[in-house]
Amino acid sequence: MDAGLSLDFLGVVEQAAIACAHTMGQGDRHHSDLVAVEAMRKKMDAVPMDGTIVIGEGERDEAPMLFIGEKVGKALHDAGAYPAIDIAVDPLEGTNLCATGSPNAIAVLAAAERGGLLHAPDLYMEKLVVGPSCKDAVSLDAPVAKNLGAIAECLERKVEDLVVVVLERDRHATLIEEIRAVGARIRLITDGDLSAGISAAVVGSGVHAVMGTGGAPEGVLAAAAMRCLNGEILARLVVKKPEHEERCRTMGITDFNRVYGASDLASSDSVIFAATGVTEGTLMDGVRFFGDGVRTHSLVMQTQPHRVQFIDTIHVHADSPNPRVHF
Ligand code: FBP
Repeated sequence: MDAGLSLDFLGVVEQAAIACAHTMGQGDRHHSDLVAVEAMRKKMDAVPMDGTIVIGEGERDEAPMLFIGEKVGKALHDAGAYPAIDIAVDPLEGTNLCATGSPNAIAVLAAAERGGLLHAPDLYMEKLVVGPSCKDAVSLDAPVAKNLGAIAECLERKVEDLVVVVLERDRHATLIEEIRAVGARIRLITDGDLSAGISAAVVGSGVHAVMGTGGAPEGVLAAAAMRCLNGEILARLVVKKPEHEERCRTMGITDFNRVYGASDLASSDSVIFAATGVTEGTLMDGVRFFGDGVRTHSLVMQTQPHRVQFIDTIHVHADSPNPRVHF
């Protein structure tokens, strides 16, 4: 995949983030999501690719745009030869976070050569996310205490000094008890386990692991980020009902107990990941509006060539006669 596409994808997530940032704190998560989707969809058509959405807003009948299977990119409009690319999107990860003005809402996209991202159904997924030093030391099936001991050892610190991010959900009551029992610290979040997972793979973020069950689409996006950051996500779909099994089968998944790693969920040699902060976050600032323009903060990464960029962009309004740029 042409590495230059990463800058096109940067523009896509920037526009999605700017659009929904206007709705921050308005208390309407569906509207926030809708404007992010519309902005992302519009910008996507200018990207020189023959793109297919493999992780998106849902099935065609429930999502008017960016639905699974939707074709996107310039190939839709002209007959040029464009690379075949699979796209996973979450135009607004953390719709509630944006609607309430809480930290860590982001606009996200991952891209890979065709076939390089798992077509995951929108089910729950058990997840364990850690950074590069711990990637070979943990197991999804190990007791929580054992994993935390291993993470502490790899990070050369006491278990009590670890910070584990967990979604604040009833289903995590036992997990939280087990983490507290070994004395590790917990950051309970209301939403946004993808953003937390990215932080876990960045040294110095103050997040050492993410544990618990969240959305499978977010799991595939996290895997693309892990491929770029050399972190790890261990994950297993939560398949509890015949209806879940059926949804897996339609996506070609027949082993419902499989534990996936980052390179199973995002298997392509060539992966691009792009995210822009919507609200203030651990790794990225949120969108800031000022008289002459808008400032965004993004993370753009790719595996070929291996590159991680934090990009601070000032988008100057076209009609601003005398724009002032702030540091
Ligand atoms: P949205 O962006 O769709 O609001 O999802 C946010 C999120 O918190 C994800 O980060 C997480 O994986 C999932 O929802 C958890 O799902 P649930 O809220 O059903 O527990």
